Amino acid sequence: MSADAAVERYNFAERMCHWSAAATYLYCMFSGLALYSPYLFWMAAVMGGAPQARYWHPWSGLGFVIVALWMHRMWSRAMKLTATDRKWMKEIKAYATNEDEKLPPVGRFNAGQKQFYWVMYYGAGLLLLTGIVMWFPEAIPFRWRLVRSIAVVIHECAALATIGGLIVHVYMGLFVVPGSLHAIVRGTVSRNWAMTHHRNWYRRLAGEPVSEE
Ligand code: HEM
Repeated sequence: MSADAAVERYNFAERMCHWSAAATYLYCMFSGLALYSPYLFWMAAVMGGAPQARYWHPWSGLGFVIVALWMHRMWSRAMKLTATDRKWMKEIKAYATNEDEKLPPVGRFNAGQKQFYWVMYYGAGLLLLTGIVMWFPEAIPFRWRLVRSIAVVIHECAALATIGGLIVHVYMGLFVVPGSLHAIVRGTVSRNWAMTHHRNWYRRLAGEPVSEE
């Protein structure tokens, strides 16, 4: 097989799920930022206007949670952190300086990708729980108003954590690892790409022996 031969990285359902997550999350994020601060209110215009942004924010959030559960069904097993991932994290400097040969071979996802996944998954859960409290404020008795205040703070912290994760994710996918955007759009990577970034994953696909993961 040539180094450029195509290897399937994401099947059609995985790509659909990923881009549904991106669409629902991005709408939710921009409409949420518009509601968060007067300085960001201009974002409401991009989201279809202020009343629309307010109306669709919780619905797009609910959509994102449903897609996150779909993603969890497909990827949660592959996202489990292992002892090799912890070794990989210790050598993260080598990853940043492109000295990949110093890193333990990686399976389908590296430790950074896995951690991003769990930030989005648990973030979605926290955003849902706290968002429901804010969605139906009249359902909470006045004497429990502290619950509402706590929900607001947790909602904002979870939103900031997921936005931080997403910024790194998009930066890595678009600018740092050439070929990965093609993977999530068209589904395939070259054999070279697979060997360089996810050696154990490729070896397993090719039926070759794999070192511990
Ligand atoms: C415009 C927004 C986004 C872009 C440009 C983008 C880009 C990418 C790319 C290029 C990959 C392939 C990485 C690889 O296989 O090496 C990927 C995978 C992935 N994306 Fe996104 N993504 C976006 C939004 C999201 C959102 C909102 C989520 C929320 C759950 C998400 C979750 C994932 C996960 C879990 C993977 C697989 C593991 C990983 O690469 O981190 N993505 N994305």
